[in-house]
Amino acid sequence: MQGSVGYNLVFAGCVCLACAVVVSSSNVVLADLQARNAFLDKQRNVLLVAGLVNEEERLTPDEIELRFAPIQPVILDLGTGEVVVGLDPEDFDQRLATNDQARSRVAPDNMAGVARLPELALVYEVRGDGGELELVVLPIEGLGLWGTLYGFVALDGDLRTIRGLTFYEHKETPGLGGEVDNPRWKALWPGRLAFNDELVPVVRVVKGVAGSLTDDPYAVDGLSGATITSRGVTNLLQFWLGFDGFEPYLMRLRQSMAMGVG
Ligand SMILES: Cc1cc2nc3c(=O)[nH]c(=O)nc-3n(C[C@H](O)[C@H](O)[C@H](O)COP(=O)(O)O)c2cc1C
Repeated sequence: MQGSVGYNLVFAGCVCLACAVVVSSSNVVLADLQARNAFLDKQRNVLLVAGLVNEEERLTPDEIELRFAPIQPVILDLGTGEVVVGLDPEDFDQRLATNDQARSRVAPDNMAGVARLPELALVYEVRGDGGELELVVLPIEGLGLWGTLYGFVALDGDLRTIRGLTFYEHKETPGLGGEVDNPRWKALWPGRLAFNDELVPVVRVVKGVAGSLTDDPYAVDGLSGATITSRGVTNLLQFWLGFDGFEPYLMRLRQSMAMGVG
């Protein structure tokens, strides 16, 4: 009978069941779409850091795919820097691999707060018609103040000059550390040098204003009121460009360039 305790319980149960069915079926139906959007967002960020898309440009999925055509995803063994063939980069998620104990190892102590290193990494190369390297995009991550920043750094074909830097995910405070994704700050990076003459990664975010490209090539302006995030960016860049990061891969690229084969 309407209004009785039994009726109310059955009614509430039916509502719960109907909601559960709607939520779980939307989850199943939308899962592919979410994965596709995440994939496109990653491609857009690679295009952004490579300077192949402007911040203001709003691209359709088809346009993103078209612009992405010259970019070659490459899976490599992080420890040796050797390219690994036979794996589909579309099926490889470096963040999942990093969190999978079977496919990663504990990172040596480091200032960037990187806890685990994946065995394999996914990088992106752009090569000219003759196969010469034009730029390379490397994934980077490390601790800021509130959590891990995830992004990409792009190097020119000389493997020294920074083409761009971008963070697509972080937990820093908007207006303070969150300025890492401000296009004006990101515009300060192209042309700065990541490595010194001895190929040590020395690029850093300084407190205050950096000098000119010629006088102060390894420095970039600090984020005001966000020294901890700024230091985090320095640490993560120096880590990923260094020995435990992509140094083996970059060394291999430099050797093949010196031999005139790429
Ligand atoms: C609510 C709040 C949020 C903050 N967010 C950040 C942040 O995202 N990144 C950061 O480096 N510092 C942040 N700070 C400031 C730090 O606590 C610290 O004071 C600052 O990094 C020092 O930078 P400064 O030497 O440039 O002043 C925040 C402080 C407060 C109170």
